[in-house]
Amino acid sequence: TIKGFAFDMDGVLADTAKFHTIAWHQIADEVGTTWTPELEESLKGIDRMGSLALIMDAGGVADKYDQTARENLATKKNTQYRELISTLTPDDILPGMQKFLDELKAAGYQMSVASASKNAPFIIERLGLTDYFKSVVDPASVTAGKPDPAIFAAAADVLGLQPSEVIGIEDSAAGIQSINGAGETSVGIGDKDVLKAANINFGSTADVTLAAIEAAW
Ligand code: G6P
Ligand code: MG
Repeated sequence: TIKGFAFDMDGVLADTAKFHTIAWHQIADEVGTTWTPELEESLKGIDRMGSLALIMDAGGVADKYDQTARENLATKKNTQYRELISTLTPDDILPGMQKFLDELKAAGYQMSVASASKNAPFIIERLGLTDYFKSVVDPASVTAGKPDPAIFAAAADVLGLQPSEVIGIEDSAAGIQSINGAGETSVGIGDKDVLKAANINFGSTADVTLAAIEAAW
């Protein structure tokens, strides 16, 4: 029996993927990496330093940047990203998700957040969603980021549930891999070709309802 839900945040609860894109695109320009839709997709769910490494690898410039230079670029990206998200309001909750959270709450499901973002507590607060979640997993507390199962395993743990009792919701291929690896049921939101490993697929957040999920599981 399903007793809880673990949510990714960027691209699932919050319309913030576009802000990550703006800020990373500028860093890509700065290091000389051509921005492509494939590169953009590959960054979803990947932590900050991991994303920067992917951008450098795509441009073949990894050799040119040592650890200090990388940390400076990551800080620069986050400074711009923080500026972009400073104006977030509950209007930036993705379509259908507030209603879905209300449905789950009314039905007595437990909920946690499994985001790779160190900005997650701030964003959840800006969106006015803090009270829905028993816990926001601190990505710094897990040994490895998505696609490793650790963060979704922790998201079940903080709810006091077994992985088999949890549904994980994600918009990234790395995140679906993390959910599946943790032994939870995976719901993918977005392009079905990108998220083909998900147990249940939805085209957009607006399609996600408890009834639709129950019909599929
Ligand atoms: C999420 C996003 C990624 C982002 C990561 C780290 O997983 O999908 O695009 O790189 O969080 O975010 P942060 O806010 O810590 O830089
Ligand atoms: Mg996401």
